Amino acid sequence: MNKLAPSMLSIDFGHMEEQLMIVAGTGVEIIHVDIMDGMFVPNISFGPPVIKYVKKAIPDIKLDVHMMVQDPSRYFDKIIQLGVDNITIHAEATENLRDDLLKIKDYGIKAGVAISPDTPVSEIEPVLGIVDLVLIMTVYPGFGGQKLIPEALDKAREAKALREDKGLEYDIEVDGGINRENIKDALDAGINVIVAGSAIFGEHTEENAKEFLELIK
Ligand code: DX5
Ligand code: ZN
Repeated sequence: MNKLAPSMLSIDFGHMEEQLMIVAGTGVEIIHVDIMDGMFVPNISFGPPVIKYVKKAIPDIKLDVHMMVQDPSRYFDKIIQLGVDNITIHAEATENLRDDLLKIKDYGIKAGVAISPDTPVSEIEPVLGIVDLVLIMTVYPGFGGQKLIPEALDKAREAKALREDKGLEYDIEVDGGINRENIKDALDAGINVIVAGSAIFGEHTEENAKEFLELIK
């Protein structure tokens, strides 16, 4: 089953609770939470206090945390104690990818590995056997509202083929520049978790979320 994970990076933070309730009301089951440190990416987003607030506002929704943070394990404790469902870390952001992923799993939550557009799937092949999710970035991480890089979708195909070859079960998630026009391409490439920020949140959040939920059926 395909899943939709609206990215709250694009939310109107002045109306955060209201906007979260709106997407929750459409049947969305996951919110994608982008944490940026200003080091791994040239932008800073938000951290644990905001996640805590989100959890309080919509306790039943799964929180899919995407850490765009250098040496992410420094923050596992703080984030995981807030009740998040999975943490995805970047292969490019740590010298200890395998250990960091195992640390996440030790907490009893799901672990994901993300690759930026210039990183090949071969880089994460050694950890595919321990992850619950592979996140294919279709833009350079750091900002919402960018244009999808179509070539990056080929990596979803690769991740899918490897999953079959190796008899594994991880989800394949896409993040960056997804809209009504290219969502089918992503699904065709083998993606089953769709992240979308600027295409969902805005003046027509409810209609957008409902439409995307239909498109992924
Ligand atoms: C970008 C973030 C994305 C971002 C996607 O670095 O990881 O999750 O919110 O935004 P859109 O869908 O607008 O490209
Ligand atoms: Zn993201």
